[in-house]
Order: sequence, then C-alpha cells, then structure tokens
Amino acid sequence: MKRVFLETYGCQMNVADSELMAGVLERAGLSLVDRPEDADAVLLNTCAIREHAEQRVLGRLGEFARLKARRPELVVGVTGCMAQHLRSRLLDHARVLDLVVGPDGYRDLPALLARAAREPVAEVRPDRDETYGDLEPRREPGVRAWVTVQRGCDRFCTYCVVPFTRGRERSRPLADLLREVRHAVEAGFREVVLLGQTVNSWHDDDHDFAGLLRAADAVEGLLRTRFTSPHPGDMSDRLIAALAECAKVCPHVHLPLQSASDPVLERMSRGYTLAQYHEVAAKLRAAIPGVALSTDIIVGFPGETADDFARTVAYLREARFDSAFLFKYSARPDTRAWRWPETVPEEEKGRRLAQLIELQHAISGELNDRWIGREVEVLVEGPARRDPGQLYGRTPQFKAVVFPNDGTPAGRLRRLRVAGATPVTLFGEAAEKNSAGAPLVHIG
Ligand code: 5AD
Ligand code: SF4
Repeated sequence: MKRVFLETYGCQMNVADSELMAGVLERAGLSLVDRPEDADAVLLNTCAIREHAEQRVLGRLGEFARLKARRPELVVGVTGCMAQHLRSRLLDHARVLDLVVGPDGYRDLPALLARAAREPVAEVRPDRDETYGDLEPRREPGVRAWVTVQRGCDRFCTYCVVPFTRGRERSRPLADLLREVRHAVEAGFREVVLLGQTVNSWHDDDHDFAGLLRAADAVEGLLRTRFTSPHPGDMSDRLIAALAECAKVCPHVHLPLQSASDPVLERMSRGYTLAQYHEVAAKLRAAIPGVALSTDIIVGFPGETADDFARTVAYLREARFDSAFLFKYSARPDTRAWRWPETVPEEEKGRRLAQLIELQHAISGELNDRWIGREVEVLVEGPARRDPGQLYGRTPQFKAVVFPNDGTPAGRLRRLRVAGATPVTLFGEAAEKNSAGAPLVHIG
C-alpha cells in the first residue's frame, strides 16, 4: 500500500478533514495521487447532510467498482459522515467496499488501510475526545487555509444528521489552533477560515470565540480571518464587539436562518425566534459598517404551510442577504424529523425553492450593482476558473472579483475599481485607470 487517491464531497469541514487525512497518510510514508487509476487505494470522504449528497457518492462508488473489477487488489474506502451514518450497512450492501471510517477514526488511517487490503474493515466508533488537536494537516498550497476549531454539534436541530455523524461538540485547544494559524502563515497562506459546526460556541477554559478571534488577529503576516458557521443563538455582544474591533476579521457573517416562520423554527428546534434572529442581524449591521450577511434556508420542512413559506419570502425581501444557500428539505434517518410525515410534496418543494432562488438572485444582483464605481481591496487567489486570462480574488465581504491579469501574484492585496457586476461576480479594473471616470457610489 503506497499510493492513495482521496476525493472530497460536502462542506468545508470535509475539505479540512481530507487535509488532515492527507497529513496522517504522508507522515506514515504513503503518497497522494491525482488519479484513481494510479492508486493502490481510493478513499471517498463523504457527506450525509442531504440524500442527494449520498446518491452522488453511491454513483461514484459504481465507477470504482468497475476499476476494482479490473484490479481486484484495489482498496476502496468511504470515510466521513456517510461512513458514520451508514456504518456496517455500507459494507453489506456495496460489495466494492473494503473500508468504512467515521470522522473519529482518521488517526489510524494508515493501519486501517493496510488491514483493509486483507479483510473488510469498519471503524465507526465515536470518540468524544478526539479533536486531532495535535495533527498538522497537509494543506493544498493556496491563499486560504481552513482551520477546524471545533468538531461535532450538540444542537440537535430536528432535521440535521450532523450530531449523529460527527458526534458531540468538542473544541480544540487554543494553543494548538494558534500554532496551526502561525504555521499556515509561515507556509504562505494569507487568510484563515475558522471552521466549526457552531463555530461561535468554541471555548477553551475561559477563552471564548471572541478571544480566539482576538488572538488570531495578533498573528503577524495574517491578512484576513473568516469563520463559518456561527449559530445565531451564540452570537454574544462580546463576540459582535470582537468582530467589529478585530482589524483582520472580514466584514462577512454567514448566519444560517433556516426559516422565517416561528412555528417552523420551533419544530426545527433552532433555539431562536425570527425576532431574535433579526435582532442579531441588526446588531451586526450596526456594529460592522457595510457587513455582508449570508444565510442558509430550508424549504418544505414537515408542516411548512404556504403561510410559513410566505414569511420566509417576506423576510428574505426585508433582510436583503448578500447571498443565500437554499435547500429543499431532505429527510435524514436518525433525526427526529425523520419520523414526521412529509407534508410538502416534492413538486411544491421545488416550486418554493425556485421562488426563493429567483428572489435571492434579484437581491444579490441589486446589492452587487451598488458596488459598481467603488474601489475594493481584493486578496488575489490566482487565475479565474472560467478564463485563466483573468485573475480572481475576494473582497473582505467575500464578493468574488474577476479582473484583467496584470501579473499580481496570488496572496497579494490589490486595489480595484468595480466596473461591472452580476449577482455572483464583480468585475474589476485597475483603480488608477478611470479615476476621473464614474463617481464613487457610497454604500452605507
Ligand atoms: N435537508 C435540507 N437541508 C439541510 N441542511 C441541514 N440538514 C438538512 C436537511 N436534512 C442545510 C441547513 C444547514 C446547511 C449546512 O445544510 O440549511 O445550515
Ligand atoms: Fe446541524 Fe443544527 Fe448542529 Fe448546524 S446547529 S450542524 S444545523 S444540528
């Protein structure tokens, strides 16, 4: 067993977990390869948040089954949330699988892989204490480093499988985190994204998340700090003050709402009312001038009436989020809502989703248009994906900006004037070029 192909599905937590696994594998003398054809073992790091995510992985496993038919010695493994969720059932059903490892089993991955070459292996025991605090991830080179500060979740929202797949909430020690941030900066990263399922409930003795942000702010060479995802219920005044005062913390908060109807929020067990959510959003806007807010919404939750949905539509209009991730409810085994009858037919879920997408698209477009004519500071990430002739970066508000390739290296800050916008992208040009051109539009 020498070469491993590792593919990641799902959220940033999983991307960070894959980097953690890559570190564990490389320290054990294994190497990572870019193509499954070149590998002795293929690992899929998976997500179980919605059924669709699982189906994609099952489809991919079908492709690996064909590869394994030609090379029976190939070890095929599934790690992450889906591994934990389906546990040994995965081994029963998919003959192609040799290895199933849940999110708490990555420390032993090299030994598990070696065993899986001889017999099917499932390592899905939850470990309440495992934080991987001491393990350095192997990061893909770049500008933005993801740093997992907390694992698991104790909130048990009634639709969500995460507390069952990732287990109880555990915070990594402050000293480990600061060491990791420093190492990332030494390795050339300029931005860190602090990750946790309810990242703002992070704590270490008497240090809270506000303290962590302030400590990260003091790390020399770091340009920007982001974090995702905070829970509205843990957005203390102390934290809002830290967000406002820390020079490196970007003015963008992703604040999942899920629904704007109180009865739905109650059944989701979110722990806040719309009024309470709105108060947090208003405090953020008051404390951090020009802060960008984004959110997550689920449509078609069991019992969501036309009236409940209309409240969500009305609130999206009122709140004017910069962007929103919009999802159809997907019933997940093990969760409380799994047992509840689904009252919104699939077609109606689709209609509600389409309505929100259209509304949010229009709002994001209007908000982005207001940037036209303004100067922005972009942290350059590299060539634009669609057009490598152009460069790409992000503003502090996390707006993607595409601009002509002027040779600015990745990791540099570049001042640009916004010359155009779509709902998802701003287009920049050299700030000097048209200083006598369009007047500055003030956004406040
Ligand atoms: N169905 C649909 N969306 C879900 N999410 C979490 N669980 C489900 C589910 N069962 C969404 C929530 C969460 C985001 C990461 O995924 O909006 O904030
Ligand atoms: Fe899931 Fe709720 Fe925890 Fe987020 S806070 S991970 S939605 S249970």
